[in-house]
Amino acid sequence: MTTIGLIGGTGDLGTALAVHLSKQNEMLLGSRSMDKAKTAVEEILKDKDHDYLKQNLKPAENSTVVASCGILILTVPHGNTLETISGLASKFRGDQILISATASVSRNEDEFTVDPNDGEKSIAVRIREILPGSVRVAAAFQTVPANILYREKEISADVPVAAESREVYEKVASIVSQIAGLRPLYLGSLRQAGEVERMTSFLLNIGKRNGLKSPTIKFLSF
Ligand SMILES: NC(=O)c1ccc[n+]([C@@H]2O[C@H](COP(=O)([O-])OP(=O)(O)OC[C@H]3O[C@@H](n4cnc5c(N)ncnc54)[C@H](OP(=O)(O)O)[C@@H]3O)[C@@H](O)[C@H]2O)c1
Repeated sequence: MTTIGLIGGTGDLGTALAVHLSKQNEMLLGSRSMDKAKTAVEEILKDKDHDYLKQNLKPAENSTVVASCGILILTVPHGNTLETISGLASKFRGDQILISATASVSRNEDEFTVDPNDGEKSIAVRIREILPGSVRVAAAFQTVPANILYREKEISADVPVAAESREVYEKVASIVSQIAGLRPLYLGSLRQAGEVERMTSFLLNIGKRNGLKSPTIKFLSF
């Protein structure tokens, strides 16, 4: 069984991914605080009556998650992503894949924008620059609404994945595909990660202006 770790797993996206990915994997739900991680796992177990969650989902500190899991999913807020990765960088054991779910979003009066501080380099590329080369980086999940996943509502959505190589993409795709209704699509190298990181503010504005709840994306092909 693969062990997947969630860095900042106590939030909306982390708990939603934990609910689904614990079906087929051992999961470590990480936090800066062990107490907070334990509470988050207890809350999920109170909410959901799935035996696999009792067996496979465990709390941990972020540093333990990073030191012990082969696959890592980063689910911390945009503004804290780089400082979190810098703080944990020395704990990575290497030969791991880190999937960044961070989106570039900022709120400007009544609309969402891409964060103007993000500049030309994607967040995923900047994560790549911080981590040791033996950790492979990808970006995914930015367009997936966490609340729909957490509530286990039926979903049909595409998940663009930017990854350092096709091989890394295939591994990330195998994880995305474990969640019913999600279809991974290869976007290309990490240079493309900015495109998907910027899609969240696009989706939030489309949703807000048009009364669409939890908008996501699904590509059509004719
Ligand atoms: N929510 C969505 O629908 C959604 C969808 C797609 C992508 N995303 C992206 O996924 C990421 C997480 O989103 P979210 O909505 O799950 O976020 P969130 O609930 O606001 O936060 C996630 C977790 O990040 C940790 N955190 C908060 N402040 C931190 C700090 N200063 N330093 C380090 N860790 C901190 C907290 O965990 P501890 O306090 O336990 O450490 C928190 O529970 C974001 O980058 C977002 O753009 C979100």
